[in-house]
Amino acid sequence: MVEVSPSILDASLKQAEELKGLVSRMHIDVMDGLFVEQNTLKKFDAKKISAWNAFEKDVHLMVEKPEKFISKYSKNNRLIWFHVEATKKPFEVIEKINEKKMLAGIAVKPSTPLKDFAFLLNYVDSVLVMTVEPGKGGQKFIPKMLEKIFLIRSVFSREICVDGGINPLTAKQAVKAGASCIVAGSFIFKGNAVKNTKKLLIT
Ligand code: DX5
Ligand code: ZN
Repeated sequence: MVEVSPSILDASLKQAEELKGLVSRMHIDVMDGLFVEQNTLKKFDAKKISAWNAFEKDVHLMVEKPEKFISKYSKNNRLIWFHVEATKKPFEVIEKINEKKMLAGIAVKPSTPLKDFAFLLNYVDSVLVMTVEPGKGGQKFIPKMLEKIFLIRSVFSREICVDGGINPLTAKQAVKAGASCIVAGSFIFKGNAVKNTKKLLIT
């Protein structure tokens, strides 16, 4: 069974808690208003997220200079993905994440080809393939990304997650291409969250 990780970008912690027992990992979209337009630094305040113990948490940093955010988000979170497009010091970021005993992952925009981040693959636990432009929920899955997932899978055996525009159909396509985990926001929370999560869990 594929791993399903709900994104609570447009949902509340309370809504997320309805999914206790169904999923173990929640996806936290941290945005700084610079790397992407939206700013969620208040909504996903590091202290508030650390204190939230209902689930394991994976943090998706959509911020400039992610190296400056690692220490803040290092308490009681499982994994941090940072965007390879947002830093000139990827190895420093990975080292900082691992020093804090978290798993390290890279996130890649739709326009970033494998050749731009292949040199990092030996050093990370997870790749988050953006299947929409990062920045907001509710966008349409970009089918061309299936090829990219397939290419990454041919050289990377650890976790590949997909993020953006996921519904039961696109989830199935992404998993077929090689994804092992799916992140979904609007499909889950716009409607009955329990029912919709179950629909993704059978992918
Ligand atoms: C977008 C975020 C996603 C977002 C996904 O930049 O990284 O995690 O919440 O939302 P949906 O599933 O609605 O595309
Ligand atoms: Zn995300």
